[in-house]
Amino acid sequence: MISQAVEPPTNPSPMLKKIEPTEITIGVVGLGLMGCSITTCLLMANHKVVAVAPLPSDLLHAEKRISGHLTKSKEEGLIEFSVDHYRKSLTITENYEQLAACTLVIECTLEDVSIKKQVYDKIESVISSDCLLTSNTSAIPISILQSLTKLPTRFFGLHWAEPSHTTRFLEVICGSQSDVAKGEFLYELSHLWGKEPTLVRKDIRGFITNRLMYAMYREACYLVENDYATVEDVDRACRNNPGYWMTLVGVFRWMDLTGVDAYHKVMKDLLPDLCNNQNIPKLIDDIVKQGGRGVSNSKGFYNYTPEEARLWEETFREFSYEIRELALKYPADVVSKKLSEKK
Ligand SMILES: NC(=O)c1ccc[n+]([C@@H]2O[C@H](COP(=O)([O-])OP(=O)(O)OC[C@H]3O[C@@H](n4cnc5c(N)ncnc54)[C@H](O)[C@@H]3O)[C@@H](O)[C@H]2O)c1
Repeated sequence: MISQAVEPPTNPSPMLKKIEPTEITIGVVGLGLMGCSITTCLLMANHKVVAVAPLPSDLLHAEKRISGHLTKSKEEGLIEFSVDHYRKSLTITENYEQLAACTLVIECTLEDVSIKKQVYDKIESVISSDCLLTSNTSAIPISILQSLTKLPTRFFGLHWAEPSHTTRFLEVICGSQSDVAKGEFLYELSHLWGKEPTLVRKDIRGFITNRLMYAMYREACYLVENDYATVEDVDRACRNNPGYWMTLVGVFRWMDLTGVDAYHKVMKDLLPDLCNNQNIPKLIDDIVKQGGRGVSNSKGFYNYTPEEARLWEETFREFSYEIRELALKYPADVVSKKLSEKK
């Protein structure tokens, strides 16, 4: 079955019914990997988008990347209209002043506080006081970032997963000074982007998924560094155990499905044995110190020929559309939907 352009929200709220995406202009600042896929997602949801390139080098690839995402989305049946139709709602510019018409701006620049601060100064000098300002930071606490802005109450984390135009994931994160009602608005709005969002009401470093994922990255490095298993073996175990069920259920539902009491029993002996190292693991430190970045320069935990690196990127792109199809068949409220179909 071909999926629709933008999935209806799982639980549509009265607030959403009043929102017309075409009337909401959204700014995206920073047009790297994620800025381009976030822009694509917003265009697919029928918003007008002002995409600001802080670096001239962004202009070399942004247009091509966004059009490529739209073309692939059209081929996959994710969008209703022609690629040109969506392209008409997009402005790519180096001029921050074009953000003046925005209701919401999403900053998506490098994970560096001083760069983000310079970018906020430029954004805040042009946007209106009721425009919301957000960051796609992976792990900088929102309370820190919002303290760098002129109006901290309108500042939030909006944490996306790559590729943003196919994934259901989105965290809306409140900082200590954020106006939670505005966070609730963002939460509602993001249903129009095909998301199953999470509202993080109290700021915490790493938010939800990065806290979970980094606990796993640390343990994975520990197992390899201490010769319990190879990188390949850890990856294989990870893909075939959690990778098998995680698109259907989260960790708590998984424990319910498989017997909570068993987890309770295992935790007693296993938790004290897990790695709780506070330093960067040597395994990843060595790679980074030798200039390894992963697939992007063919050197990471694995080595790649340029052809293999290109094929991994291509395979991930293909997979992201296929897993999206499966994910959409199993929304968070899949069981309540089945129950209501029975009535
Ligand atoms: N890559 C992911 O999977 C991922 C996932 C979630 C969140 N994030 C976060 O999203 C943000 C962007 O990540 P990305 O993967 O798109 O990075 P990227 O390296 O692809 O792009 C970074 C962009 O930052 C901007 N930039 C770079 N130097 C700058 C400068 N001196 N001044 C102003 N702008 C500058 C440019 O627009 C550049 O294209 C980061 O905060 C990152 O932590 C990334």
